[in-house]
Formats: sequence, C-alpha cells, structure tokens
Amino acid sequence: MKIMGGDGSGPTVAHDLGMHSMITLTVNGKTHTLDIEPDTPLLWVLRDHLELTGTKFGCGIAQCGACTVHLDGRPLRSCVTPVSVAEGQAITTIEGLAGDTLHAVQQAWIEHDVPQCGYCQSGQLMVAAHLVDNTPNPSDEDIDKAMINICRCGTYPRMRSAIHRAAALARDAMADA
Ligand code: FES
Ligand code: FES
Repeated sequence: MKIMGGDGSGPTVAHDLGMHSMITLTVNGKTHTLDIEPDTPLLWVLRDHLELTGTKFGCGIAQCGACTVHLDGRPLRSCVTPVSVAEGQAITTIEGLAGDTLHAVQQAWIEHDVPQCGYCQSGQLMVAAHLVDNTPNPSDEDIDKAMINICRCGTYPRMRSAIHRAAALARDAMADA
C-alpha cells in the first residue's frame, strides 16, 4: 500500500507500509531479486513468486516436513524460515535436485515405486538426498533417525529400501568416477 499525496494525485512518500525490501536469492543455481517483505516464509516465495510448486505446504508449523528444501546443502523447513534468512545462501528445491542425471535417491525412488499419494515426497527426497550424500552406507538406524518427515500414506518401509538402494547407486557412481 502506498501513502498518497494530500491532493490524491499519487504517492508523495516512497514508502511501503508492508516494509518491503529487495532480496536476492539463489535458487537451483539461478539468481532472483525480489521486492518482498523480509519475513515472508521462504516456502511462499518459492511457490508463489518463483512458481516452484514442487515444494509443498503441509502444516505450516515445522512439524511435517513437506516444505523441506536445502539451504547450503542442509535440509530446512521452509514454511517457518523467513526469506531474509536464505539470502546469500544456496537454495535447492526438488526441481533442482537432479543434475545431468537424476539424483541417486530419485532413481531409487522410481525403482522401488515409493510414492503413494506423493504429497510428502518432495520433502522426503530432499532429506534422503542429504542423508545419502553425507552417509555413504547408512544403517536402518541412520535412516530412521533422518527420515522424520511425516508420510500419512506410510511409505516408510519403501523409503528405507530405496535409501539403501540409492546409497549403493551412489557408491557405484563414485567407484566408476
Ligand atoms: S509445511 Fe513446513 S513442516 Fe509442515
Ligand atoms: S506418499 Fe502420501 S503422504 Fe507420503
């Protein structure tokens, strides 16, 4: 909302009551500069401003993990993260997880036919990718400890199998490199 001049002719004070500011974000390797309120949740910026709708809204209170993205490579619940926190850091969403080929977890998810309704799965994949990238041979305990996002369809056993497969794929890729 703009503050108008006394004669109603237009803005005389370049002031926005919404306290917008210019924020520069790097998302999936691309830079975006947005005029936005700094406390806007990162999730809404990704979905509504950048049209990256693979990241989902579930609970909005950091409980379910449907909104998980990576911030400098670490999983983060974007529904409760002000966009200003992400400025200057590398944001990766599900749309940017694959490189020239699918990430090992994406390949394994397909092989193991993991998703049911699919709603939670982009968040699950972001957590699983971080686990596989940082733990070459995760145990069942490692997987259960990491995979704490909620799946109402109960795909946990298939996710666990797929993570073991993804870790094996990643190890094979390293051996071939
Ligand atoms: S929508 Fe962010 S944790 Fe549920
Ligand atoms: S696949 Fe349906 S909520 Fe997880």
